[in-house]
Amino acid sequence: MAKLNTFTCSACGASFSKWSGRCDACGEWNTIIEEAPLSAGPASKSLGAKRGTPITLTDLSASETPPPRTASGMDELDRVLGGGLVPASAILVGGDPGIGKSTLLLQAAARFAQAGLKTFYVSGEEASAQVRMRAQRLGLADAPVKLATATSLRDILTTLESEAPDLVIIDSIQTVWADNVDSVPGSVSQVRAAAHELTTFAKRKGASVVMVGHVTKEGQIAGPRVVEHMVDTVLYFEGERGHQFRILRSVKNRFGPADEIGVFEMTGGGLAEVANPSELFLSGRGTPAPGSVVFAGIEGTRPVLVEMQALVAPTPHSQPRRAVVGWDGARLAMILAVLEARCGIPFAGLDVYLNVAGGIKISEPAADLAVAAALLSAREDTSLPTETVVFGEISLSGALRPVGQTENRLKEARKLGFTSAIVPSGGKPGGDGGLALTRMGDLTAFVGDVFGA
Ligand code: TYD
Ligand code: MG
Repeated sequence: MAKLNTFTCSACGASFSKWSGRCDACGEWNTIIEEAPLSAGPASKSLGAKRGTPITLTDLSASETPPPRTASGMDELDRVLGGGLVPASAILVGGDPGIGKSTLLLQAAARFAQAGLKTFYVSGEEASAQVRMRAQRLGLADAPVKLATATSLRDILTTLESEAPDLVIIDSIQTVWADNVDSVPGSVSQVRAAAHELTTFAKRKGASVVMVGHVTKEGQIAGPRVVEHMVDTVLYFEGERGHQFRILRSVKNRFGPADEIGVFEMTGGGLAEVANPSELFLSGRGTPAPGSVVFAGIEGTRPVLVEMQALVAPTPHSQPRRAVVGWDGARLAMILAVLEARCGIPFAGLDVYLNVAGGIKISEPAADLAVAAALLSAREDTSLPTETVVFGEISLSGALRPVGQTENRLKEARKLGFTSAIVPSGGKPGGDGGLALTRMGDLTAFVGDVFGA
């Protein structure tokens, strides 16, 4: 029976039996492309893989526990990895083009090589001379990292088999091309086949394989999401182009906590670690202004203080604008609805802009109260008392719900010179971190107390 072609979304990897303009799975437009089925078996067949024999858990002796992790010495990176690199693991590092993935990985490669790992950097995007120039710029020209420029999967695997490195960096997975897959380089089938073979290599040889994946906007090139399920760890390198801050975030990690972040700053000499992100995110803050509220958040295992900025202005349009940077637009709509329905504060006829300063993305519901405070402060044109941090989740009833790690948040605020905090009442009793706490049970009380409305 002839195999039918399938239609695959190059953004998320979902497959369909027919073409459509918009992917039903991820909602992206013009990402569905037709792909031929695999024409031959995977390349590793010729590499003599072993047949597996089952073992029971109790038979795993201490000698079979994996060797310890290797730390790079870059704390921001090691924390995101869950303490360092694990042997026999596959890691995906995704991010927009130009955000600094190659820079980060070249710096990491040099550190891991100095820590004793046999490191191999395969670039499919830049010539060796370019990579070397970048290394010079980063002051890493004499790092013991082997460089190769290759795009053929067969060539890469053959080299890796003979070199037997501990760490392989593939920059990028979209440039790797398998000759046994009948579709153009960068397509979903190609990217999947390459990621599969490289992951298999990692498991078989006990190496750590790091694959770079560009987040793409064109439909013909597959994005990193199509290989997320194959790898052990998925990291995204984020940041606003105009900002120098970069955040490495783990969204999946079989060997450590997910949602951990590492903070870097892009400088003329490469990426510098930012050990105290709160200081950095609040550094540009001027005198307290209406619409500005400091949120004491937790990112991964770390407290991070960020400034929430809101602007509320009468709209010239029939449909008021709601624009959000760094937070969830649906959540903003919910907070506006709660303010209107439970506290009687309408935002109809008003444009609402919300921005998380510093280019960081916040996803914690604990930011609800800080957002509400910023919105009210902007609307009423009054500023919140200076040196106050705010956090708490808002439920649809208008009640304030306690959030986790209260004490850590308060301690971080204290460390940065804040003296008071507005927090939800209830929850686990804990220390006040040395701050004057105002505990609130619901949003109406908060509005009355803080804004006198
Ligand atoms: P790059 O690592 O090439 O991005 P990616 O691999 O994610 O596409 O980074 C490119 C940007 O970083 C480029 O605009 C220049 C800037 N950059 C610096 O600001 N300082 C540096 O030391 C380096 C190497 C790059
Ligand atoms: Mg690059």
